[in-house]
Amino acid sequence: MDHITIANSRVPVLGFGTWKLFGPECIKATELALIAGYRHIDTAQIYENEAEIGMVLRHSGIARDEIFLTTKIWMDNVGRGKFQRSVDESLKRLQTDYVDLLLLHWPVDDVPLRQQLEDLQAVQQACRARLIGVSNYPVALMRAACKDYGITLANNQVEYHPFLSQKPVLDYARAHGMFVTAYSPLARGKVADHPVLQQIARRYGKNEGQIALRWLIQQEGVAAIPKAARADHIRDNIDIFDFALTAEEMNAIMGLARPDGRLINPDWAPQWDKAA
Ligand SMILES: NC(=O)c1ccc[n+]([C@@H]2O[C@H](COP(=O)([O-])OP(=O)(O)OC[C@H]3O[C@@H](n4cnc5c(N)ncnc54)[C@H](OP(=O)(O)O)[C@@H]3O)[C@@H](O)[C@H]2O)c1
Repeated sequence: MDHITIANSRVPVLGFGTWKLFGPECIKATELALIAGYRHIDTAQIYENEAEIGMVLRHSGIARDEIFLTTKIWMDNVGRGKFQRSVDESLKRLQTDYVDLLLLHWPVDDVPLRQQLEDLQAVQQACRARLIGVSNYPVALMRAACKDYGITLANNQVEYHPFLSQKPVLDYARAHGMFVTAYSPLARGKVADHPVLQQIARRYGKNEGQIALRWLIQQEGVAAIPKAARADHIRDNIDIFDFALTAEEMNAIMGLARPDGRLINPDWAPQWDKAA
């Protein structure tokens, strides 16, 4: 399956991550990604590349409804009367009337969660975001959003790769009709060094990155958004739809998760779930 269907949206399971792609490099890489067949693009206000991505999409000749476009509200724009204006500015930079998915980038402690969610919902009700969701939310916060405040979230975008279990988040998401997007799905390039991934890669004539991505998208309700600047990486990362891992290989890769596998853990991170 090359896409996830959720609330009338079709989400390609393999998307293009754009963190740390700036200016001409971002333009070039995003153009190459579209040529290679990516139709799901992930950006964020904080990446400072929404304008470049908007320009590439506008000039691509690809119909807007063939693209699944995600952006994320940065922490400083949550509450404080800045939320809606920041969405207006993102849409202007992206040269579109709507994004397919709008996320709260990180949990923010000093603005009531209800207000954050209502602001997000207002964007959706104004048809400026097809789907809404969160990023870097542990289960307790997912539960608060869905259960305490009755908000229908479509997605949680979290760090997920062979070295980090996300079982609690995945279990909660699947039980509540959400999908999970795996960020840093290549463990920021580190998957290339692991002998188990190397061995499986040889078996299929693929590289370790392709095995890690295949492992992610073969899981129910999981999309992955590898970033690449290099043309060969961009092409390789989407060339994962002509083979399938066996149940035994899926389990072997599942077994690579370790307690210190998390790579993205800034000062403002929430209390993460204990890996199961
Ligand atoms: N929501 C959040 O808080 C959050 C946090 C982090 C990331 N993200 C999103 O997730 C995306 C991906 O995560 P990421 O950028 O942290 O890391 P990543 O996708 O795991 O890894 C990117 C790194 O791997 C290299 N690479 C790409 N393809 C490769 C391949 N086939 N073989 C070997 N190396 C390869 C890239 O090199 P080259 O660039 O030189 O090709 C780059 O150095 C981000 O771009 C962003 O969109 C979201």
